[in-house]
Amino acid sequence: MPKNGIAVAPARDVFDTLRSVKERAAAVVLDPWYNRGVGGTRADYDDWLGRVVEASFGAADHVFVWGFPDIVCRVLGRLPEGTELVAWLTWYYKNCPSVIRGWRPAQYSCLHLAEKGAAVYPEHFMTPEQAEKYRAGGMRYVPGPPSVIEAPLNIGFVGRGEQTGHPAQKPVKAIEPLVKMSSMEGDLIVDPMCGAGTTGVACAGLKRRAVLSDESKEYVKITKERLKSARGGPK
Ligand SMILES: C[S@@+](CC[C@H](N)C(=O)[O-])C[C@H]1O[C@@H](n2cnc3c(N)ncnc32)[C@H](O)[C@@H]1O
Repeated sequence: MPKNGIAVAPARDVFDTLRSVKERAAAVVLDPWYNRGVGGTRADYDDWLGRVVEASFGAADHVFVWGFPDIVCRVLGRLPEGTELVAWLTWYYKNCPSVIRGWRPAQYSCLHLAEKGAAVYPEHFMTPEQAEKYRAGGMRYVPGPPSVIEAPLNIGFVGRGEQTGHPAQKPVKAIEPLVKMSSMEGDLIVDPMCGAGTTGVACAGLKRRAVLSDESKEYVKITKERLKSARGGPK
């Protein structure tokens, strides 16, 4: 468990990482394979993901679950008692090349789940002017960020500096809002299926601590390399 900064644990299964977290985290980010396309499919996907969500609530107050809308929606039918859907988030990207005849894919979903009554921080999205006005008591409510996160896919020349070769890497801009809404500076975020470590990069930039791991040794290695240049670096 890190006292400060970003810890990248050895490659291991999601349940082992969740079990290893002894401090209550602010949030767990779950971005598993999607049961379609890259990563393949598993017959017990819904049951498995339900169990991962349940175990995540053993570690944190907020749980974010990424996936295709028609697949990830099934998590909502089996939320652990005392938890709720805070918001259905959509990541919208315009730049997906597609040779499929018909609708061109342009979205992923992310369920923001939380323990009932868990703190959220919309004030983290204010402009400096809004924050000033808020502090001076000149605002009746805190304006929240939109539930649609717009960020291009890191593909081709777009996001070249972020690209690591991981086949399903998210842009940092798609993860940052989750971290800002669910945590304060210094809080702990866990990503037990971290891929190329995008959550770690977002946490480093936003001064949160993080524990990351992935079942793949190759992706853990990519994550460690990537985070060397991020604030703090892996412990
Ligand atoms: C969609 S990718 C994550 C991408 C990541 N958010 C990023 O931006 O780089 C899914 C990751 O989940 C990992 N994964 C799948 N099943 C796992 C399991 N049972 N335990 C740990 N990691 C797992 C895969 O190895 C893969 O790297």
